[in-house]
Amino acid sequence: MCGIVAYYGPDRAYDFLIKGLQRLEYRGYDSAGIALLNGDLRVYKNKGKVSELVDLTKGKNLEGNRGIGHTRWATHGEPNTINAHPHLSQDGDLALIHNGIIENYATLKKALQERGHIFKSDTDTEVLIHLIEEIQKAEQVNLFEAVRLALNEVVGAYAIVILSERDPNTLIAARKGSPLVVGISDRDGEYFIASDATPIVEYTRKVTYLNDGEIVSINEGNMTLKTIENVEKSPFIQNLEISLDALEKGGFEHFMLKEIFEQPKSIFDSMRGRFDKENLTFAMRSLQEFESKIKNLDRIIIVACGTSWHAGLVGEYLIEEFSRLPVEVEYASEFRYRNPIVNEDDLVIAISQSGETADTLAAMELAKERGATIYGICNVVGSSIPRMTHAGAYTHAGPEIGVASTKAFTAQVTVLTLLALGIADIRGKITTERLREVFAELDNIPQKVETLLEACADEVIKIAECYKDARNFLYLGRGYNFPVALEGALKLKEISYIHAEGYPAAEMKHGPIALIDEEMPVVVIATKRNYYEKVLSNIQEVKARKGKIIAIVTEGDEKVKEIADHTIEIPDTEDCLTPILATIPLQLLSYHIAVMRGCNVDQPRNLAKSVTVE
Ligand code: G6P
Repeated sequence: MCGIVAYYGPDRAYDFLIKGLQRLEYRGYDSAGIALLNGDLRVYKNKGKVSELVDLTKGKNLEGNRGIGHTRWATHGEPNTINAHPHLSQDGDLALIHNGIIENYATLKKALQERGHIFKSDTDTEVLIHLIEEIQKAEQVNLFEAVRLALNEVVGAYAIVILSERDPNTLIAARKGSPLVVGISDRDGEYFIASDATPIVEYTRKVTYLNDGEIVSINEGNMTLKTIENVEKSPFIQNLEISLDALEKGGFEHFMLKEIFEQPKSIFDSMRGRFDKENLTFAMRSLQEFESKIKNLDRIIIVACGTSWHAGLVGEYLIEEFSRLPVEVEYASEFRYRNPIVNEDDLVIAISQSGETADTLAAMELAKERGATIYGICNVVGSSIPRMTHAGAYTHAGPEIGVASTKAFTAQVTVLTLLALGIADIRGKITTERLREVFAELDNIPQKVETLLEACADEVIKIAECYKDARNFLYLGRGYNFPVALEGALKLKEISYIHAEGYPAAEMKHGPIALIDEEMPVVVIATKRNYYEKVLSNIQEVKARKGKIIAIVTEGDEKVKEIADHTIEIPDTEDCLTPILATIPLQLLSYHIAVMRGCNVDQPRNLAKSVTVE
């Protein structure tokens, strides 16, 4: 939520800032702004997207080789130009960009107002820069020290960068709870700062990820790292492995479509080298290292949000089926506030694409405090969640830029499948015969996804044409396909703004059936190996009330075809692997409906991809 970038070096900062903000726009796109320093400090900011900021800056003085930039997802104050970042100190000397929330801003603001500070915006960020200014003047300290002292008074989360007109050779950045990466160029005295590594990779592969409570100071071209307690630290420099192609649309109209079509590869990459289908062995370090812990587990708790929570539900079914361990799946936001029972023999699995979701991080922290072992399934390398875990596995889906999650979901389910099989194997709950069968089919999945993407394309577009103007949609599924129904409905509402609900097919009669009439499209996942006859009855119940059925069926199905209005065939597979295949046409259906309705599929309104506020 909110993306920040900063440049310090010999070149014009503007070019890096704009390109960087465009890469980070998935984090929020309510407003955008930059501050450039070239003798004087100039701020350009605007409501709307980065492209509108580019229009605003046309013909303006864009010189300066220090600069900061921000793209906003509003928390405090409506998304208008005044509330856009950067924010200035009272005397205009300091400019600040901020991602996060200053929780005690109201108290700080009141005290500052009593001492004569006048605020222009409604933001918590403006309060912070006034506080820094006040401390700098009162204590007669340098900018680093003023920032450090101010941060000691702040409660909340932040990733910040500050520029000063009076001190043009200094740039200060700090983090707590919101991510921040510093790129170190091969050219002396050149640094790039951003919320994630995607703006940086084009310029340097050498980066350091800040830890919570760390402040970076770039002064006269040299970088120093300290904690907010003033303890010096040496930065841990690592190499980025992101490919630049992964950050471009590569000929597709939208990132979302590109990411849907990348799934044969992202699923393959998420399983590659992690199991041996001939020898029936696993090569997942996290499983080997935690073998004794896994043997003694009492229970598994999965915490996640959004689409990752849906993957968690599939995980529950997988783990309970294969290893007969009880699993609870929790919304991270609920878990953290309800004093849950967590024990030392629990394994808590946190699932997250971004690795930065504030609620998931807080849930992990709570579980860790109570002695549980924390396992992370995460996509973004080096992000906060994997750094907080005891063990874990990356999903290797590559950068996901479309705000609605697609390839991350199928990659998460792939990793969860391997984890479920691995736990079952360690606990002696799966026969070699069964392991052989599932491994063999898992190995076929990327190819099946490839075939499916091609085979269903035309039918999905036809169906989208028929229902693009619907006001409501219902999605039904049973067993492994229930989370798929939830995910299908979420995808549709996120990007097309059509109200959609996912339901267990059998629960329909306890409520949603009242909504069914000739206007209501009902998407039913009715695959052969998954309660087929039962789902068939649910389809009949919808038809009897004149609802329109869009059925996801197994290749060669005849029975559902006879009664459904539309069918989309998916290749036959193991019941437990159906979610990976059944999700694909639902992603495409949402995508095409949203495009036909003229919606911005990559940046749907009000949403952000990386939710760093609770
Ligand atoms: C946001 C995104 C969703 C995502 C959810 C959880 O709501 O728009 O696509 O599923 O956050 O994010 P995470 O990065 O933890 O998977």
